[in-house]
Amino acid sequence: MKLLILCLGLTLVCANEIKNDYVEKNFDPSKIKGKWYSILLASDEKEKIEENGSMRVFVEYIDVLKNSSLFFKFHTIVNGKCTEIFLVSEKTDKDRVYAVQYDGFNIFTVADVVYDKYIVFYLVNVNNEETFQLVELYGREPDVSSEIKEKVVKFCEEHGIVKENILDLTKVDRCLQARDGQEA
Ligand SMILES: *[C@@H]1O[C@H](CO)[C@@H](O)[C@H](O)[C@H]1NC(C)=O
Ligand SMILES: *[C@@H]1O[C@H](CO)[C@@H](O)[C@H](O)[C@H]1NC(C)=O
Repeated sequence: MKLLILCLGLTLVCANEIKNDYVEKNFDPSKIKGKWYSILLASDEKEKIEENGSMRVFVEYIDVLKNSSLFFKFHTIVNGKCTEIFLVSEKTDKDRVYAVQYDGFNIFTVADVVYDKYIVFYLVNVNNEETFQLVELYGREPDVSSEIKEKVVKFCEEHGIVKENILDLTKVDRCLQARDGQEA
């Protein structure tokens, strides 16, 4: 049963890949290294991204490891305190697709990227035979243009994630004060 659901998750990712025409043809993972800011966070299961939700995490940077895994540093708020989270995502056989264990099994795709401006991840989580989707928009700066945000809102809607489930994190505490080299 688990495997079946996993395949379902993969199918969603694959279907998404065919549908999206945004991403640069020759994806170069080394170019997504470095500092990022979480801008939009969306899910069809809203409690995952609300206060105390497991997916309410704020990126600080991405590194690309020697074995092609992606290393993410995030912050999340636990009992009112910004807390660091580190996650390593393994590269899969497919270009732009990575997998990571976190609150279940996750498989995610780089759905859209302009290396010096923004990146969009489309993630499918499978846990206890249930799945949900997550869309994340990161910017190289603390905010991005409204054109980029609108494009991502449209992408969410195409995946059945309604507007009310898209959070603009520029309007909430994203633990910017907890980032390396930032003033408290
Ligand atoms: C890649 O390297 C990281 C860091 O050493 C490690 O945690 C991860 O398990 C490795 N992944 C694979 C697939 O070897
Ligand atoms: C989040 O967790 C904290 C600490 O456990 C709690 O005080 C707060 O009410 C929770 N917030 C929500 C929206 O559940």
